[in-house]
Amino acid sequence: MTDLLTSQPLPDSHKSFSGPCISFERVGLRFGNTTILEDINFNVENGTIHCLIGPNGGGKTCLARSLLGQMPHTGRITINWPAGKVIGYVPQLLDFDHTLPITVDDFMAMICQDHPAFFGLKKKHHDAVTRSLAAVGMESLRKRQMGQLSGGERQRVLFAQALLPSPDLLILDEPMTGLDEVGSSLFEDMLIKLKNNGVTIFWIHHDLKQVKKMADFVTCVNRKILFSGSPADVLTADRILNVLSREQAFPVNL
Ligand SMILES: Nc1ncnc2c1ncn2[C@@H]1O[C@H](COP(=O)(O)OP(=O)(O)O)[C@@H](O)[C@H]1O
Ligand SMILES: [Mg+2]
Repeated sequence: MTDLLTSQPLPDSHKSFSGPCISFERVGLRFGNTTILEDINFNVENGTIHCLIGPNGGGKTCLARSLLGQMPHTGRITINWPAGKVIGYVPQLLDFDHTLPITVDDFMAMICQDHPAFFGLKKKHHDAVTRSLAAVGMESLRKRQMGQLSGGERQRVLFAQALLPSPDLLILDEPMTGLDEVGSSLFEDMLIKLKNNGVTIFWIHHDLKQVKKMADFVTCVNRKILFSGSPADVLTADRILNVLSREQAFPVNL
């Protein structure tokens, strides 16, 4: 993780990608009689930031969970791994009992060791956890109960766990929700460093300004794909206006 976050980016011609490319082919998903996703076709190139946008309920989380193998979809999702096969995942919601007496360190211990968390964080994981928490500015709060963290602090911890072990593919489901400006720019810096080190980043996000700034590619989904391409090509002023002004207008005018 440290290397991924600290080493200098290589020029593109020398870049070696650790992250995979991904292809979604005719992906579909139904719950009972309800079609959630239909005929989803697009590719994610390795070592890029690929943002997935679209209205609430449009199927973004379902698509990410299909990629993780957690949803029984139709069609085919192929992940071509050039190197390691580590996936880091920041879920949209961390559903847990807020009265549960676990500290940030306990939570990190549960992520990275088989050894029960109540025996403490194993020495061999301690340094990696310290680096990971420091990278998201949470080292000083490592003894704090998870239930006492603010929404933004919890997001930071969720991000820290996704960096252990160093991911080749990072899947982020609206990880910026609840983050303040400082947290948000810290995340931006981390994502750029990870990308510069060849990690593939698949990022569900709703802030179109940030998508325009950060993404190499963007795909908009609302049951079907509405558009997909580079932000400069597909995020036209009309579309941005539609998305920002009235979410329902999303599918209508595209
Ligand atoms: N486990 C489930 N069972 C039934 N319906 C679900 C389930 N998970 C998601 N859905 C439905 O699928 C649709 C897409 O949800 P989701 O992928 O979470 O949308 P998004 O992330 O784009 O807001 C929603 O209508 C949601 O209610
Ligand atoms: Mg979602």
